[in-house]
Amino acid sequence: MTAAKEVRNQISREFCPKLIYGNDSISDYDTIFIGSPNWFKTIAPPVLSFLRRHDFTGKKVIPFCTHGGVGFCQIENDIAKECIKSIIIPGIAVNGATMPEEVTNCLKSLVYK
Ligand SMILES: Cc1cc2nc3c(=O)[nH]c(=O)nc-3n(C[C@H](O)[C@H](O)[C@H](O)COP(=O)(O)O)c2cc1C
Repeated sequence: MTAAKEVRNQISREFCPKLIYGNDSISDYDTIFIGSPNWFKTIAPPVLSFLRRHDFTGKKVIPFCTHGGVGFCQIENDIAKECIKSIIIPGIAVNGATMPEEVTNCLKSLVYK
């Protein structure tokens, strides 16, 4: 199976690989940025592992992604679906052409939320 096919397969069966990093408690954090590359319009399997590994109840969750030109697609919804008891704050979808200032401006605007 090619790598792309394997990824599609993992996504379709909601495969959650074991995490090497990201297992520590998130209880000390009120606001958490959740980022993923856009893989076939959704989050990468290890990000799903992270979301299912932790309890985001009551936390502010800020989704962001990197992509090859199509933006968030399902990513914000997919993160929100895994964090139903969280406050979801719009983040940013970044592609290679995004100027660093856009990311800086996004982060500045989030400081006040
Ligand atoms: C398996 C796979 C699937 C991808 N699917 C998409 C896609 O559907 N839409 C898109 O814009 N980019 C897609 N990309 C491009 C990645 O989103 C992009 O390369 C990545 O966000 C850049 O971050 P990185 O350098 O950490 O990989 C895909 C990349 C891979 C490896």
